[in-house]
Amino acid sequence: MLVLGLETSCDETAAAVVGGDRTIFADVVLSQLSEHRPFGGVVPEIAARAHLDHLDGIVAEALRRANVAIGDLDAIAATAGPGLIGGVMVGAMTGKAIAAVSGKPFIAVNHLEGHALTARLTHGLDFPYLLLLVSGGHCQLLAVEGVGRYRRLGATLDDAAGEAFDKVAKMLDLGYPGGPAVQEAAARGDSARFVLPRPMKGRPGCDFSFSGLKNAVRMTIAGAGSLDSQGRADLAASFQRAVAESIADRVAHAIDAFARLHPGAGNLVVAGGVAANKALRAALVETAGARGFSLVAPPLALCTDNGAMIAWAGLERWRLGQSDGLDFAPRPRWPLDPGAKRLPGAGVKA
Ligand code: KG4
Ligand code: ZN
Repeated sequence: MLVLGLETSCDETAAAVVGGDRTIFADVVLSQLSEHRPFGGVVPEIAARAHLDHLDGIVAEALRRANVAIGDLDAIAATAGPGLIGGVMVGAMTGKAIAAVSGKPFIAVNHLEGHALTARLTHGLDFPYLLLLVSGGHCQLLAVEGVGRYRRLGATLDDAAGEAFDKVAKMLDLGYPGGPAVQEAAARGDSARFVLPRPMKGRPGCDFSFSGLKNAVRMTIAGAGSLDSQGRADLAASFQRAVAESIADRVAHAIDAFARLHPGAGNLVVAGGVAANKALRAALVETAGARGFSLVAPPLALCTDNGAMIAWAGLERWRLGQSDGLDFAPRPRWPLDPGAKRLPGAGVKA
């Protein structure tokens, strides 16, 4: 079984060929970082045009590296949402066109489902498991119970974690993308120097919030007048620690809720670009370990956006006999849990 997966929902143009035995035959990712850097963030129109310019070449390169022809594929999967709609349309239309011309089935993949199922591709993990998805666009905790069966335990009420890293990096003049820059500065800083809030810590439920913390950083900068390089490093370290501690607190609650739903299950999976953060990883290892859970982290290249996760999610759905019509409309918003089933006491709103 061989599936081609396309990913274009944000600022990576990606295509991959994945096999049913979990072999990644090719995984080509073109980052648009340099196009967006001058603007300090992803510009949707620039992203869409860049996907349009590059996707056909990336698909050809993935097929070449996998040494397969379109005729060898069993299905074509493409991200059909959620994400920046211009880019999603480019990927979904390209996937549909390849499917139409080759007569292969088309599978419209939810980008979040791609992240959610990656640990089954990389680690062969069995259901159920708890997923922490922390990226520039998403911040949520999900019970992953089966293909198409996701229960959201918590989500951010305002910013995503990566967004907070990016904004704080901008305030501290550390460059873009912000997460790696904050982590690098924090390595030289004293995380105890500035007192910052731990948003949501100690509150019931599993929801996140980062805007108060972001504002506290802004006030600290304003109050300090000007910060020298050491001051910026100290503030980066204090911020990073506050994020890690508040996420760890939310995850602790989610593990307890998940364990009530699924006694005996013991895996916490982390995905998304912020999963690269070392302070966060250390906090998660400790939080999971204290509750008898193991932290499962796919290699970083498969934690951030890529085509392999889309091919794999398509493959999992196709194996269950699922595919989509060529009239499937791309969706800018597409929650994984349409009923938004929530646990009693698990947070306020989605
Ligand atoms: O998953 P991803 O590559 O793209 C999407 O948002 O879909 O995640 C990118 C986000 C950015 O906000 C970036 O600043 C953050 O992940 N990030 C980090 C680190 N590396 C990337 N945040 C904190 N620490 C890092 N080391
Ligand atoms: Zn993503």
